[in-house]
Amino acid sequence: MDNALHHSAMKTLKDFQKRGRPDILHSCLLNALGSPLNKSGLLTIFVHTVHDKIFKFDSELRIARNYNRFKGLMAKLLIDGRIGLENSKLISSYSGSLEDLIKSYDNREVILFSSKGEILKKHDDLFPSSNDKEYLAIVGGFQKKFFSKDFQGFSDRRVSLSSYSLDAWIVVCKIINYFEIATRDYF
Ligand SMILES: C[S@@+](CC[C@H](N)C(=O)[O-])C[C@H]1O[C@@H](n2cnc3c(N)ncnc32)[C@H](O)[C@@H]1O
Repeated sequence: MDNALHHSAMKTLKDFQKRGRPDILHSCLLNALGSPLNKSGLLTIFVHTVHDKIFKFDSELRIARNYNRFKGLMAKLLIDGRIGLENSKLISSYSGSLEDLIKSYDNREVILFSSKGEILKKHDDLFPSSNDKEYLAIVGGFQKKFFSKDFQGFSDRRVSLSSYSLDAWIVVCKIINYFEIATRDYF
């Protein structure tokens, strides 16, 4: 659903303010997939939906710049469960739960990004460069409201990047930039 078109039909749905914004995902993906971090193969992108489906976006994927074409792709993904050929899936479905996915990373640190988190004093405190951990950064692709308690349970840290509540794509861009600066040799 797209809140801009289906607002009245959506109003009765549970947590309607946390759904129906494919434009937020589109802007986040354009920022993440186009980043030097992704081009260098150091970024893996997963999208978790309101119905607990998880999709992995291949780093080689070039999504439609046009929003209406992007929505068509997402509708096809939700119906078919994948985009691409069987042996070269550009977007594939992850069969486990969010907890399974998080636990599949051994040396991990899970950071939940939230305006309610502990404010980051220096950007190099986010990803200490001497550290060889795998960082799992979680950003809410929604317009209003906050993460459910489940997400808070999965996280090692809850970090705020600003005293303002920011748009999700700004947060995605900042996280990637801070990581690129911390590991600048790769770019
Ligand atoms: C538009 S906000 C959701 C609205 C909510 N009022 C909030 O401030 O978190 C979308 C997402 O961006 C991230 N975000 C927003 N402001 C942030 C901040 N100051 N620091 C870190 N992450 C932030 C969070 O992951 C949030 O779920």
